[in-house]
Amino acid sequence: MQDEFERLKWLRGEIEAANQQYYLLDQPAMSDADFDALMRELLELEAKHPDWVTPDSPTVRVGGEVAKEYSKVRHLEPLLSLDNAFSAEDLREFDRRVRQVASAVEYVAELKIDGLTVALTYEDGLMVRGATRGDGEVGEDITANVKTVKSIPLRLKDEVPRLTVRGEGYMPKASFARLNQEREEEGLSTFANPRNAAAGSLRQLNSQITAQRKLDYFAYQVLGAKELGLHNQAQVLTYLKQQGFVVNPEYRVLATIEEVAEFCAQMAAERHQLPYDIDGLVIKVNDFALQEELGFTAKSPRWAIAYKFPAEQVETVVEEITVRVGRTGVLTPTAILRPVLVAGSTVSRATLHNLDNIRDKDIRIGDHVLLHKAGDVIPEVVRVLPEKRSGEERIFEMPEVCPECQSPVRQDEGEVAYRCQSITCPARQREGVIHFVSRDAMAIDGLGPAVIQQLLDAGLIADAADLYSLTFEELVPLERMGKKSAENLLQAIQASKSRGLGPLLFALGIRHTGEKAGKILAQRFGTMDKLMAASLEELQGIPDIGPTMAENLVYFFSLESTRRFIDKLRAAEVDMTADASLKPQVLAGKSIVVTGSLERWDRREIEKIIEDHGGKAASSVSKKTAYVVAGEKAGSKLSKARELGVQVLTEEEFESLLKQEVQQS
Ligand code: IVH
Repeated sequence: MQDEFERLKWLRGEIEAANQQYYLLDQPAMSDADFDALMRELLELEAKHPDWVTPDSPTVRVGGEVAKEYSKVRHLEPLLSLDNAFSAEDLREFDRRVRQVASAVEYVAELKIDGLTVALTYEDGLMVRGATRGDGEVGEDITANVKTVKSIPLRLKDEVPRLTVRGEGYMPKASFARLNQEREEEGLSTFANPRNAAAGSLRQLNSQITAQRKLDYFAYQVLGAKELGLHNQAQVLTYLKQQGFVVNPEYRVLATIEEVAEFCAQMAAERHQLPYDIDGLVIKVNDFALQEELGFTAKSPRWAIAYKFPAEQVETVVEEITVRVGRTGVLTPTAILRPVLVAGSTVSRATLHNLDNIRDKDIRIGDHVLLHKAGDVIPEVVRVLPEKRSGEERIFEMPEVCPECQSPVRQDEGEVAYRCQSITCPARQREGVIHFVSRDAMAIDGLGPAVIQQLLDAGLIADAADLYSLTFEELVPLERMGKKSAENLLQAIQASKSRGLGPLLFALGIRHTGEKAGKILAQRFGTMDKLMAASLEELQGIPDIGPTMAENLVYFFSLESTRRFIDKLRAAEVDMTADASLKPQVLAGKSIVVTGSLERWDRREIEKIIEDHGGKAASSVSKKTAYVVAGEKAGSKLSKARELGVQVLTEEEFESLLKQEVQQS
């Protein structure tokens, strides 16, 4: 017991330290797999000893609370909005007004992060509440969701009796791009920009979903700062950092408004290089005494102003709206644009997401529109320029039949999407095969969309399962194929048979079941047969598997066409067991630490090998470590192993250990 408690405390310390290294210092101290392993161990310990769970344990960050609705919270002080400045001249005007009250002014210029305001309350150093802005007076209680954001400290460094912090919750551009890609792969609607994605994620009723969304937070304000002995905004930012918050590093303390204007211009030029969206800067009078003297107007402080960048929007024309049929049959309207240069690249098409969006923005074929890049990446039609209409513009209608197979198109109840109803639709089949062979699915190299189209056109395959009966003789005559590529392709197809259950489940393209869900289901059930026999209740009981996903799985496996497809794969001897059960569990229960640089594998690979063989890839050496695998330039972990008498292995020794024990087992 005592040992376990010590271990638990140690794990929490390691995890929090790793979080801080990552989020505060921007220097990851361990691999994701190491981190996950520590987290898993801590979760196990806490499950065993529920009374040891504390509100600031890092395990609360994985989420789990599911709310029916959000309760309201009244803000201690209302959240005000800011006046806007759109030019250097507007900034000078602001400066003149400030100088009517004081002669010497210092400004703090901070980036204006394009996310949403989140107010945090701490009591006795512990985070007790997170709330949205709402109408400024009353917001929504999103505490469970806020706790999943790793850059928000659950406990302050100091045990202040009460502290309210405000800042911006946001989604980094990279997380946004990844999220949208995943959603597209899963047949879900995409988010228009990082701010919408952040807002949607923070207002999730299921905090486990929020936890997966990779949100971040920059803190910039403390209520009652003067009582804490802080006299200006620069000190607040320093204080916030000391307490464990992430403060945006790009702020400046500047002595004149001309310097402020210069900094604004500089950031306008550099904004696209930042890993998050900003829509301007916030300029604040640094000194609190002066802030107080300046006071407020009815709705905003006189001591601050928001400098807004001229929007990076360009004008172009919607020449046509076409419809693309995706893997799940969803019809996605796409604007074909007169090509224009925007935020660094030429754009000639933009997804219009769905019909609701087209109607909301009243986009018509022939319209002049303003275009920008959401999250600096994805071209998006911002709005129409109705004053430029000639009357010749045409209203877009969703086709009543699928543009690829002429089957009827229907809108699913309660959804925005329109779908082609035919499961044999060539577009759906093509997209389905493209998905099946993709990297995270069956990973069949050398099988691009063009070859897939050829195979379908030539009648050599009707679905992805037919890939496994392709022959050399069938492939060679295809255009641009040749003997060598035919051989390679057959080899890649052959190799894909042993991808295992997880990737296979993802490859099947079941609605809502992404790569991660595939992995979880594979680990849980071990074989396709067991999964197919699972009841709805059983599936719903699995953490990370939402009710919609569970329902879709049951529906999918109840289909006759699914069973036929799976039988075909089975006949081709496609492996339908989970990875791990394939490998002899020779490292079961053993904790193994890898250190130094290896020659045969990279970190991820060897950690996967360890896990596939039942072991645990740990990040630090203790008495409980079974082996340390040491490569070149191994340092402190190696010495620690020697100190504790833990067995040290070279790469070769590790490999033969796997093999030897394989023979034994
Ligand atoms: S100061 C009275 N600082 O911009 C002080 N706001 O109208 C008001 N924002 O939606 C806030 N970055 O959430 C401040 N560094 C920053 C900010 C910032 C983004 C947002 C804020 C609000 C709007 C201000």
